Amino acid sequence: MTLRVEPSGASCGALIYGVDLSQPHSPAEIDAIRDAWYKHQVVGISGQELQIADLERFAAELGPDGDDPFIASIAGHPRVVEVRREANETTVVFAEAWHSDWSFLESPPAGTLLYGKVIPPVGGDTLFADQYAAYDALSISMKAKIAHLRGIHSARRSYSPGGVYGERDKGRSMAIRYSERAMATQLHPLVRTHPETGRRALFVNLGYTIGIDGMNDAEATALLAELFAHQSRPEFIYRHRWSPGLLTLWDNRCVLHTATGGYQGHQRLLWRITIGERRRFAKSTELESPISVD
Ligand SMILES: [Fe+2]
Repeated sequence: MTLRVEPSGASCGALIYGVDLSQPHSPAEIDAIRDAWYKHQVVGISGQELQIADLERFAAELGPDGDDPFIASIAGHPRVVEVRREANETTVVFAEAWHSDWSFLESPPAGTLLYGKVIPPVGGDTLFADQYAAYDALSISMKAKIAHLRGIHSARRSYSPGGVYGERDKGRSMAIRYSERAMATQLHPLVRTHPETGRRALFVNLGYTIGIDGMNDAEATALLAELFAHQSRPEFIYRHRWSPGLLTLWDNRCVLHTATGGYQGHQRLLWRITIGERRRFAKSTELESPISVD
């Protein structure tokens, strides 16, 4: 395998050429793909003709199983869910808010694989925002302010019975399973050190961060609003365009993503697998080295 990596030119993102994902890979080949993934945070591998078993094998080569708590898997394929929208569907577009996948879990997925099966001729781009760059660009005073704060993450606004995908969400073709379990909360440091790269990334997101531990609602809402606006600034964003057979792999620890619409009247179908952590994450910034504010 001769792998060629073409950076997007944006703050993150690259395309990888010379990979056939319908075949098993040697450890050295997986290391090369992993290196590109960690370096560019989001990678696309186009022109792949994959069966579900191919996607499952590649996911297993990359890491342990992730968890998909609120989307039913494809029958017989417990790791795989469908991201689906029918041509005549009128529900709100799925995941059209900045987020990091399942950040409300105790151990959120390290990565996500998404494979384009049916891709509309217009619209449907995925936007990614580089959270290493977002952290680096914070002011010295903001870095100091948030260094030891923890965000409160929850799926309640999306997957509880009263959430966006809850009882009132009728006519959706995706197999979403809303639940009272979505009311649970989980704390994560606002700044996390990536366990594989050692780089610091901002870890809050509009979709799932609902407060800040130990801070009153008004103060937390104001601080989060400032961070949400900062972390999705145009200079951090890479726009990822889909094509049938494109496999995309992103790193939830250092990028946010959001869906975009613009393909009403067309079907869109992708297969998704989340990938768990290989290494233990520090529970708190207090366990890590002091924050550098240079
Ligand atoms: Fe997502």
